[in-house]
Amino acid sequence: MTSDQIQLIKATVPVLREHGVLLTSHFYKRMFENNPELKHIFNMGNQQNNKKQTALAMAVLAYAEYIETPEVLLPVVDHIGHKHTSLDIRPEHYTIVGRHLIASIQEVLGDAATPELLEAWTLAYSKLADLMAGHEQKLYIKQTERTGGWAGWRPFVVKQKVKESEEITSF
Ligand code: HEM
Repeated sequence: MTSDQIQLIKATVPVLREHGVLLTSHFYKRMFENNPELKHIFNMGNQQNNKKQTALAMAVLAYAEYIETPEVLLPVVDHIGHKHTSLDIRPEHYTIVGRHLIASIQEVLGDAATPELLEAWTLAYSKLADLMAGHEQKLYIKQTERTGGWAGWRPFVVKQKVKESEEITSF
């Protein structure tokens, strides 16, 4: 990325943050309408009660500012990576999210979304996505290499079911 592009990102982060609720609701609405299969990954309870609704889009805004100093991002990338790998999030999901996020930025900014600005955001997102998906690939490999380890979905046979309490059942 050029320094002009980084400046462009830094200048638009506060504006986008100000329209955070609009940006986030545009983004999720768009994504779930066009890619309803993702509803199975996201906790839709979070979407309805607004609790964690802002996590994804707002995190992208926050981290894009540091795209030239990835060492600042590494601890947070590792933390999110553990959450993402527990949900089996894959590189192809990043492509879908990126498409809807950039389109939402364009919709929210309207005429202010110049081609240069959208190009800068597309680049920043793709750098962030590569960094995160790359780290997550390493976590998947580590999981697979553990004794009895695996990554993703696999069938299990339920041998026993124990009702531990009114609320908890062990399988
Ligand atoms: C650059 C892109 C992304 C960023 C910056 C990002 C950031 C985050 C953050 C900060 C959290 C909260 C972690 C915590 O619980 O402490 C999170 C959770 C989550 N992320 Fe991502 N994420 C990105 C991409 C994706 C993609 C591609 C998907 C899948 C399509 C995804 C799905 C989720 C889900 C399902 C959660 C759990 C919370 C929920 O159900 O809403 N994220 N992400």
